[in-house]
Amino acid sequence: MSDHAYSAAERAAIYRAIGERRDMRHFAGGSVAPELLGRLLAAAHQAPSVGLMQPWRFIRITQRELRGRIQGLVEEERVRTAEALGERSDDFMKLKVEGISDCAEVLVAALMDNREPHIFGRRTLPEMDLASLACAIQNLWLAARAEGLGLGWVSLFDPQALAALLGMPAGAKPVAVLCLGPVSEFYAQPMLVQENWAQERPLSEMLFENQWGERP
Ligand SMILES: Cc1cc2nc3c(=O)[nH]c(=O)nc-3n(C[C@H](O)[C@H](O)[C@H](O)COP(=O)(O)O)c2cc1C
Repeated sequence: MSDHAYSAAERAAIYRAIGERRDMRHFAGGSVAPELLGRLLAAAHQAPSVGLMQPWRFIRITQRELRGRIQGLVEEERVRTAEALGERSDDFMKLKVEGISDCAEVLVAALMDNREPHIFGRRTLPEMDLASLACAIQNLWLAARAEGLGLGWVSLFDPQALAALLGMPAGAKPVAVLCLGPVSEFYAQPMLVQENWAQERPLSEMLFENQWGERP
C-alpha cells in the first residue's frame, strides 16, 4: 500500500461513488442549495484538461421558458433518432431519455470558442478538448452522486440550434444538457440495462496485452 493512499473508508467511498453513479432520467423536483451547486461546479472545474486549456463552459438555465425550449429541441432530435433507428424505433420511443422538466437544475455544458490556438496535446488529437470537458462532467457526476443527487447526461439535440438558442459565439459548441437534482431512488443498474435496451459487457472483453485483440 502506498504511503499516499487514503484511509480504507475514504477509498471505499470513492469506489462506491464510481459504482453507484447512474445516468438518471427520473427526478423528484426540489432544488439544489446554492452552496451545493457551487461545490459541484467547483469539482467539475478541478478536472484535468489538455494543456490546462479548461475548455469547459457551463450555462445554468434558470428561465423556465428557456428550459422548455431546450426540451423541445431534445424532443425533435428524439424523433429523428427514432426514425434513424429503423426497426428499433418503437422500443426507442418507449425509453425515457431525459428528465429536463422534472429535475431541479439544468446546466448546459459547452466547449469554449476560439479553441484553435490551443495546440499543446491537440495537434494530432483536436478532440482532446472534448475529452477534457467530459472529465469535468464526470467529476460533477461523481460528486453529485456522493451528495445524493442524480445527474443525467442528455446529448440528443442539434448543437447548432442549441448554440443559437443560448447565444453562443461562433466556434463554441454545446455538448451536454445536464439534468441535476434530487431523485426518489437511484437505478440499481444502468436504466438501458433495466429496460432491456442494451447489455453491459465485461472488462475482460476490453482489455488487451501488447497487441490489439490479444488477451492477457
Ligand atoms: C457522452 C454521453 C452521452 C449520453 N447521452 C445520453 C442521452 O442523450 N440520453 C440518455 O438518456 N442518456 C445518455 N447518456 C447516458 C448513457 O445512456 C448511460 O451512461 C449508459 O447507459 C450507462 O448507464 P449509467 O451511466 O447509469 O452507468 C449519455 C452518456 C454519455 C457518457
